[in-house]
Amino acid sequence: MSTLPPRTPADTNAHHAPSTAMRPEAGTGNYRPEPVSFVRRGSRLQGRRQQAWDEYAPQFVIDVPRLEADTSVDPAYLFDAKATFGREAKLVVEIGSGLGEAIVHAARTNPDTDFLAVEVYRPGLAQTLQKAGPLGLTNLRLIEANAPEVLATTLSEGTVDELWVFFPDPWHKTRHHKRRLVKDSLVPLAARVLKDGGTWRLATDWVEYAAHIAEVLRTAEQFENQHPDTLGLPYTEDGERIAGVAPRFAGRILTSFENKAREAGREATDFELVRTPRP
Ligand SMILES: C[S@@+](CC[C@H](N)C(=O)[O-])C[C@H]1O[C@@H](n2cnc3c(N)ncnc32)[C@H](O)[C@@H]1O
Repeated sequence: MSTLPPRTPADTNAHHAPSTAMRPEAGTGNYRPEPVSFVRRGSRLQGRRQQAWDEYAPQFVIDVPRLEADTSVDPAYLFDAKATFGREAKLVVEIGSGLGEAIVHAARTNPDTDFLAVEVYRPGLAQTLQKAGPLGLTNLRLIEANAPEVLATTLSEGTVDELWVFFPDPWHKTRHHKRRLVKDSLVPLAARVLKDGGTWRLATDWVEYAAHIAEVLRTAEQFENQHPDTLGLPYTEDGERIAGVAPRFAGRILTSFENKAREAGREATDFELVRTPRP
């Protein structure tokens, strides 16, 4: 792994407890201004995932310095794409990359572009390594961290060509909506990291979340929706349809996650926005 300052001791706040139950205080550690969009279900690996981690993490996983929680990133740390990849190339960042299906496929089929996967779920990162490691990909790196923090401080302003958010957790209950990854506060963070003219792509299989995303994006002044007049799926009983929907992004492969959603009758809704030039 890269030679960075040692990590601070792992934090023991409630949202890192290896429990699948949501605790009332989960994710509300007072060093984070907002509730996080995940519940950490433990990061212990076994068998092949552990093997993949041992073998490939030094090559692929950026050993970012932490501040408080073990999914935080010290705000003083800056990701240096040029030094990391040893070249200057287009940079695509996927946040919430899950098992890595989309980003590994993209990295394999676009060798001239560099890719950064940001994910909090270590078993997902290990599965990403299981795919990427044997392929010997040199244009992919992973960061195990809370994505909004990475967007806020780890990535330098205006350095990302594309930002991907595919199938973020829907957090259905109204009282959990504040935990959604895509919300008003994500917009300035996405706008911060994207270059002028850079693209923000999103997709979700939940129609109600798609309607929420459409509303968040509609008022995002830093972005221009590339398909403002295209209507998507109906989301109300009156048949009101989601506005500003993009055609399916050709670079987004059908992941096992999306496939399950399809089998359950849920079609994906895509969005494509372009960062308007900074004044
Ligand atoms: C429903 S899964 C979708 C995974 C993947 N994008 C796909 O399409 O298969 C959502 C993923 O986002 C991750 N996630 C949620 N909140 C996150 C955050 N704040 N930072 C990084 N990853 C996050 C979860 O751990 C999970 O792996």
